[in-house]
Amino acid sequence: MIVYINGDFLPKEEAKLSPFDRGFLFADGVYEVIRTYNGKLFRYEDHMDRLRRSMDSIKLEYDLSSIKNIIHQLIEYNNLDKNESLIYIQITRGISVPRSHKFPESVLPTIFISTTQIEENDTDRKKGISIITLEDLRWKRCDIKSVSLLPTVLSNEEANKKGAREAILFRDGLITEGTHTNFFAAKDETIFTAPEGNHILSGITRKIVLELCNQLDIPISEEFIKKDKLKTFEEFFVTSTTKEITPVIKIDSLTVSGNQPGQLTMILQNEFGKLTITN
Ligand SMILES: Cc1ncc(COP(=O)(O)O)c(C=O)c1O
Repeated sequence: MIVYINGDFLPKEEAKLSPFDRGFLFADGVYEVIRTYNGKLFRYEDHMDRLRRSMDSIKLEYDLSSIKNIIHQLIEYNNLDKNESLIYIQITRGISVPRSHKFPESVLPTIFISTTQIEENDTDRKKGISIITLEDLRWKRCDIKSVSLLPTVLSNEEANKKGAREAILFRDGLITEGTHTNFFAAKDETIFTAPEGNHILSGITRKIVLELCNQLDIPISEEFIKKDKLKTFEEFFVTSTTKEITPVIKIDSLTVSGNQPGQLTMILQNEFGKLTITN
């Protein structure tokens, strides 16, 4: 596998980072995950806008204009032209020697980009998944796509241990989102999801779902769902770049929509599929 790091295209074994990199020492960095459909980047500008917002939020400056070109080169070097790729981009504040909280002066950010082949598997999307609820342990800037992911790593691990595919998180009794997904519910033909703000990441797939709802005249309510009202909803799904629109058929011990993907979920999945086919 060839990866890109600080200006070089290298076999992954030769890509090296300083232990003084602030990404390693402080999780002082941000990232993005993009994918291709039909070999073409999907919603590239949306992802770059979010990366810019994340960088601005942590006061990190980096010129993103060459990223698309680098990605295309990586796809070529890794012979992924005929496959679908998942692209990971991470930018950190660079190196601080000696270790110090203070931002370093005149230090270049570290940039790392990798591309991997997507092994398509639509079982979860067709059959739906079980998820669990857990307390949201994260900080108050979940809108920043920060590499500081320990709370969601731990929550996701707890879900895995319990045989679930995702954990959805609640703060003060309100559902925010999943560990790496946005969360949606539906009832009375209306779609519900948490509002944008500092308690959730503004998912690109979330944005697409809302666009599709608008096109299909499906009413949207961007309000927090109360954890203790989950049983009053008819269907649920989670969204992300890699999970697309994945139906939820069980939350903790609550079986939903007869253990099957719900109607609205399937309509939205179908419309989303059309976008990917024509990408
Ligand atoms: C916390 C969180 N919420 C939501 C999402 C979904 O975002 P997107 O649809 O842009 O992949 C992610 C993706 O990684 C995430 O980490």
